Amino acid sequence: MEQDIDRILITDRELAQRVDEMAAQIAACYSDDDAGLILVPILSGSIIFLSDLIRRLPMKMKLGLITVSSYAGATTESNAAELVMDLNVDIRGRHVLVVDDILDTGKTLRLVKERLHQRAPRSIRTAVLLRKPSKAPPDVTADFVGFEIADEFVVGYGLDYDGHYRNFPHIAVLKEEHY
Ligand code: XMP
Repeated sequence: MEQDIDRILITDRELAQRVDEMAAQIAACYSDDDAGLILVPILSGSIIFLSDLIRRLPMKMKLGLITVSSYAGATTESNAAELVMDLNVDIRGRHVLVVDDILDTGKTLRLVKERLHQRAPRSIRTAVLLRKPSKAPPDVTADFVGFEIADEFVVGYGLDYDGHYRNFPHIAVLKEEHY
């Protein structure tokens, strides 16, 4: 795997430090919420970010899972976001925090937020580890953002290319011949 990597953009240490900071921001935001928070990770890219983030959050919470597919097969071109598995918990009247790996064109977050709104939660906020600037329309925003990155396809720390590299511990760019 290592030999396919061109450059590391964000190291595992930098990721750990930033996830600490994000968890502190999120905890401060929800500290008065007695009802308990529902975290909705968008599978599968957010799994490693999610597992690091939730272990740093002190409040009571539940997880609700949703799966969206946006990159079909071996391509870096974003297709229309498509719901593969709908939410599996009741969020009516609850605070919801959507967790995703990356905000790119915004199609995924828009679809998920529309679906969640229909289920009448008390609030919806979003946390993304990475954001590619100026591609998402202005109405698709994230409340908590880990890192702004340039517009290039990245892998590692849960993000894949054609299913691979999710277990690479850093955020990285592949050598051109592997895309
Ligand atoms: P959109 O364009 O809907 O994208 O905001 C969000 C989803 O697309 C995937 N994505 C990426 N996956 N490297 C990846 O491995 C990337 O650079 C990248 N950009 C977008 C990702 O699943 C994200 O949830």
